[in-house]
Amino acid sequence: MNTKDLKQKILEAKKETGTIVLAHTYQDPDIIDVADVTGDSFFLSKKAAELKAKRVIMCGVRFMAESVKILSPETETILPVPSATCPMAEQIAPERIRKFKEENPTAQVVAYINTTAAIKAECDVCVTSSSAIKIVEKLDADKILFIPDQHLGSFVKKQLPDKNIILWDGYCPVHAQLTAQDVLECKAAHPDAKFAVHPESPAEVVALADMAGATSEIISYAKSQPGKVIIGTEKGVVDYLSTHEENGDRFIQLAPHKLCCEDMKKISLEDVYNAIIGSCGEDIQLPEDLRKKALVSINRMLELG
Ligand code: 13P
Ligand code: SF4
Repeated sequence: MNTKDLKQKILEAKKETGTIVLAHTYQDPDIIDVADVTGDSFFLSKKAAELKAKRVIMCGVRFMAESVKILSPETETILPVPSATCPMAEQIAPERIRKFKEENPTAQVVAYINTTAAIKAECDVCVTSSSAIKIVEKLDADKILFIPDQHLGSFVKKQLPDKNIILWDGYCPVHAQLTAQDVLECKAAHPDAKFAVHPESPAEVVALADMAGATSEIISYAKSQPGKVIIGTEKGVVDYLSTHEENGDRFIQLAPHKLCCEDMKKISLEDVYNAIIGSCGEDIQLPEDLRKKALVSINRMLELG
């Protein structure tokens, strides 16, 4: 079946089954086209809760589907390809957090939203890349453990020198590959361009940026600029900007050979269709006590952020 016909079948199947398709901006442009809601990870889970959807297909990675389930336990939440996971989300075991808290009873543990539900259940508060500084600034603790991303953690630490922040050694295998050299070469080819980057990138890269922020912030910044913008994040963001904005060729992909998240690209348009009709995907289930504990950390993020 060609792509156009498959897209038409997806639209019909969504209607017949009352299914909502959520797609992270990093997804393939054809999936973005058939989605009901697109955006960054936290926006999507909030949106699913607001929509009170009966059934959701989450086109992204596992922690995103889990976040939808934590916020909307009544919603049947399907991850079309069960092996689509964020490698960073599991770079710390929940037992390590429990041990740290036993040894440091007055400390607080801050978890990036890119973590499993089991990790969220052990931490004190979650953050997104856009709310991390604001939330950590408000924490009244002698010690703060920031997990799992060392680069986002050091970005926060730099802005808040008065806080005693301990970093974990996790990282995003996609953004962490970037080097200052990648940026300098791209800037040399586009000397008049601004540079926007995701703070999951190493400090030497962030130091060269005109702005650093989450997916949604990068998109807003890029749209607001009159001229060229070099985009230092996953290639889905440039695909999105170049197809949804006028003069789409003014968005320049930094290091295209590095900035492609394989896990985010595991879902195909066929998978989306098959998940809608119930012939593939995993119905995400979380033990209720774990879900409730994870919800406490997410709700605290909403209060503080
Ligand atoms: P956002 O939280 O900005 O959607 O980012 C998700 C992600 O995986 C970044 O690499
Ligand atoms: Fe995880 Fe990095 Fe992929 Fe985002 S880009 S889903 S942080 S591996």
